[in-house]
Amino acid sequence: MSKKVIVVTGGSSGIGFQTIKQLSASGIDVISFSRSKEKIEKAKKEIGENPNVKYFEGDVVKAVDCKKLAEYIESAYGKLHGLVNNAGVLTKGSMEMIDYETWKYNLDINLNGVYLLTRNLLPLLKKAEGASIVNVSSIAGLKPGSSIAYSVSKAGLDMLTEFLAGDLAPYKIRVNSVNPAIVRTNIHLDNKIVENKEKYEELLKSVIDRYPLKRIGDPEDIANMIEFLLSDKSSWITGSIIKIDGGVMIHNELIPPK
Ligand SMILES: NC(=O)c1ccc[n+]([C@@H]2O[C@H](COP(=O)([O-])OP(=O)(O)OC[C@H]3O[C@@H](n4cnc5c(N)ncnc54)[C@H](OP(=O)(O)O)[C@@H]3O)[C@@H](O)[C@H]2O)c1
Repeated sequence: MSKKVIVVTGGSSGIGFQTIKQLSASGIDVISFSRSKEKIEKAKKEIGENPNVKYFEGDVVKAVDCKKLAEYIESAYGKLHGLVNNAGVLTKGSMEMIDYETWKYNLDINLNGVYLLTRNLLPLLKKAEGASIVNVSSIAGLKPGSSIAYSVSKAGLDMLTEFLAGDLAPYKIRVNSVNPAIVRTNIHLDNKIVENKEKYEELLKSVIDRYPLKRIGDPEDIANMIEFLLSDKSSWITGSIIKIDGGVMIHNELIPPK
C-alpha cells in the first residue's frame, strides 16, 4: 500500500508543528504550508533530518499559492489523503476596538483561507479513497471569546465543517473540526495578545482555576485528536465539532456549582 500524504497548514509552529511531528513519526508523508521562512527554518532545525516532512512556503489567502501547492501534490503524489486546516491568527478586540482591516485579516486567514485551500485540494482529496479533512477551530467559535473577529471566523469555520461534511460524504471524504480552549503555543505572543513571556505566564495562571482539569492545553492534546480524525479509526465520524478544553465549557459562569 502506498504511503499516506497529508497537508497541514501552519505546520511551522504550535499545534501544527506538533501535528507534523506526530504524523511524520508514524510514517506519513507530511507537507507543511505556511508563510514565514524564519519560522520554517526554526521548525526544520527542531524536527531534524526527516524525509517524511516537506515545507511549502505559501499563504492560505493567496489563490496562486494554493494552486501551486495543488500542482506540486498532483505531480509528486497524484492524490491527497488528508488536509488539516490549522493555520490561524487571533486579534483581540470588540467591534469598537478593531478596524475593518483587522476584521478582514482574521476572517480571511481563519475562514476564507480554509475555503480557498480546500477548494484547490479537493480534486486530489477525491482521488484518495476515504480522505479526511480536519479544521482547527476554537471554543471561541462556540461562545464569544476575547475577539469578535476571531470568534466569528471560528463560528463560520464550524458551519463550513458541517456543510462540507454533508457535501463531501458522497466522495467518502470526512470533515470534522477540533475546538481547543487555551493551548500553550506562540499564537498569543505572535499576535500581541500579551506583550511578553512574563505577561503570558500571568495570563495562563489567571485562567487556570476555570479549568476543571486544572491545566492549560498542550499541543499534543490537540494533535492526538487530529491524528485520530485523520486515521481510519474514526471512519464513522464526520460533521463533528469536537471540544478539547480541559472541561472549561462544562459550567456556565452564572451559577457556580460550589
Ligand atoms: N493556542 C491556542 O490557545 C488555540 C486555541 C484554540 C484554537 N487555536 C487554533 O489553533 C490553530 C493553530 O494555532 P497555534 O496556537 O498553534 O498558533 P501558532 O503557534 O501561532 O501557529 C500558527 C501557524 O499558522 C501559520 N499561519 C498563519 N497565517 C497563515 C497564512 N495566512 N497562511 C499559511 N500559514 C499561516 C503560522 O505560520 P506563518 O505565520 O509563518 O504563516 C504558524 O505556522 C489556529 O487556527 C488557532 O486559531 C489555538
